[in-house]
Amino acid sequence: DHKDYSLSHPLSSSHSYGLRQSLPSYGDPPFSLFMRKLFIKALGFSEDALSRPIVGIINTYSSFNPCHANIPQLIDAVKRGVQLQGGLAMDFPTISLHESFAAPTSMYLRNLMSMDTEEMVKAQPVDAVVLIGGCDKTTPAQLMGGISANKPIIHLVTGPMMPGSFQGVRVGACTDCRNNWAKFRAGTLDIEDIAALNDELAPTSGTCGVMGTASTMACLLVALGLMPLSLPSATAPAVSSARLRVAEHTGALAVQLAKSQLKPQDLLTRESFLNAITVLQAIGGSTNAIVHLMAIINRHPSLAGTISLRTIDDIGRNTPLLVDLKPSGSNYMTDFHNAGGMLALLHQLRPLLHLDALTVTGRTLGEELDSIPFRPLPSDTELSRIIHPLSSPLHPCSSLIVFDPAKSNLCPLGGAVIKASASKYRRLLQHRGQAVVFHGPADLAARIDSPDLNVTADSVLVLQHIGPIGLHSPGMPEAGLIPIPRKLAQQGVEDMLRISDGRMSGTAGGTIVLHVSPEAADPDSVLGVVRDGDWIFCDVEGRRLEVELTKEEIEERKRERRKEMESQGEEAKGSNWERREEMRGYRGLYMREVNQAEEGADFGFLTAAGPKGKGKGVG
Ligand code: FES
Ligand code: MG
Repeated sequence: DHKDYSLSHPLSSSHSYGLRQSLPSYGDPPFSLFMRKLFIKALGFSEDALSRPIVGIINTYSSFNPCHANIPQLIDAVKRGVQLQGGLAMDFPTISLHESFAAPTSMYLRNLMSMDTEEMVKAQPVDAVVLIGGCDKTTPAQLMGGISANKPIIHLVTGPMMPGSFQGVRVGACTDCRNNWAKFRAGTLDIEDIAALNDELAPTSGTCGVMGTASTMACLLVALGLMPLSLPSATAPAVSSARLRVAEHTGALAVQLAKSQLKPQDLLTRESFLNAITVLQAIGGSTNAIVHLMAIINRHPSLAGTISLRTIDDIGRNTPLLVDLKPSGSNYMTDFHNAGGMLALLHQLRPLLHLDALTVTGRTLGEELDSIPFRPLPSDTELSRIIHPLSSPLHPCSSLIVFDPAKSNLCPLGGAVIKASASKYRRLLQHRGQAVVFHGPADLAARIDSPDLNVTADSVLVLQHIGPIGLHSPGMPEAGLIPIPRKLAQQGVEDMLRISDGRMSGTAGGTIVLHVSPEAADPDSVLGVVRDGDWIFCDVEGRRLEVELTKEEIEERKRERRKEMESQGEEAKGSNWERREEMRGYRGLYMREVNQAEEGADFGFLTAAGPKGKGKGVG
């Protein structure tokens, strides 16, 4: 009986809700329940409180996470929502990840956070869980763990920060961090300016205020049905009262979920993910979301392996770019929020969506869109330009493009990704140029600004060894936005074709090819054998990414490279790839288990396919 959460008789164990959940009994269930109750009563709970549906609230507050600074307030509001609906709210911690305080990379720790989330949700007697996250890696980690744990979940994000102001212009983390740093490097901003700007780029708590990874993932959570549409759950600013009302409402919905027991593996279908990918393309979302989505999908037992990078590309061909936000466009998340946010966007996208997909309310996306009051903005307002109608998009299709591995000898197995909508010089979308190769971030830092660097505006900058395993910093560091060499920047060059096996911040722009797979660390990688002067041809429209070498030449270079790796003495053996079998701790686990970008850079044993399915998530 779903309604009976009662624990009033400690010797009864007729159902599996409330404190009886996940009860390890070791042979004497009534005694175990008796013990559990006596300990929880130490906190002062009454029998009445303990008889209610239990809603867990995951607390990812940390002093090192300004994107999550409002979490204590959010927890209060969620608890209010839970209690107004007659539930019992119990908050508990998991680890917290902020982009700037997670060495060597936050991505390296995403899978650890997903494990923490999965195991704590499984371990504790919760009937439903509110996952509070926000910063880039946190929401994907929570969803990965939530799907694997498969108890009812609902997401709550901390919300975007407000924009700041500098010399009369609005600025925000972190598109404007990069733009302005590039100006400082080129000498057009001086030291006083860049220092003053440092105070304004993140003027409030909350997640980065552009369509970076955090905002993208928040929008995708609504598209997936995991955050409500009736309130601005993706876009309400972190510091707004609207954000607190979203939190209260989330608590109320969590009680409903505790009763309905709608679990993520049932709620999320193929159609939910197709909707999410449609939204990803329409918002010109972060390239990082592609890696996260693949990891999330491959956690789902009946969807793993059925949606691939190819699906993302196919959907892109029919999905226009509608939302004019940085880095693809020019506005901030607060503008998207004020323009109607996800509700307005989904109304525009309606003809492209699968309206039968379920949402956390238990109703379908179509039912939600039909029943939630919605008034479009008057068309003559400034804000009406933020969300374009389907009939006059910002760009007709394909913000995010996947290179076809069959046509691309540079990424022959797993493909590669480019955010075409963020390209500054459109001519670079079809470009042939000679490679200037950097063997990792240290080499890049040492040579990129050298006056002797043999480079022109038509060169192709290639950065190796920033993939999932990488050379020294695992986790696909966001170094894919290779800076324009200083001598070219000073001549006014603002964009070049750049290629790597790493990621870039979702807030960055330029003609940047990312996630090249297999990564350079793999002795079988083609990216790993590209040399200075090789001709590279990139044709975004044709989905081709080629190095102009024959098969034989590539194989010969791989053989040479293997020989080189083998002949290196013990001292020279420093790379992650070569040392992965002997590494201890989480690092060793990561190095041995992480899969490639097209599979989500998850650990093989965490995927739905399990340890034996390693590599099978590739579509
Ligand atoms: Fe947390 Fe950008 S650093 S969202
Ligand atoms: Mg980011």
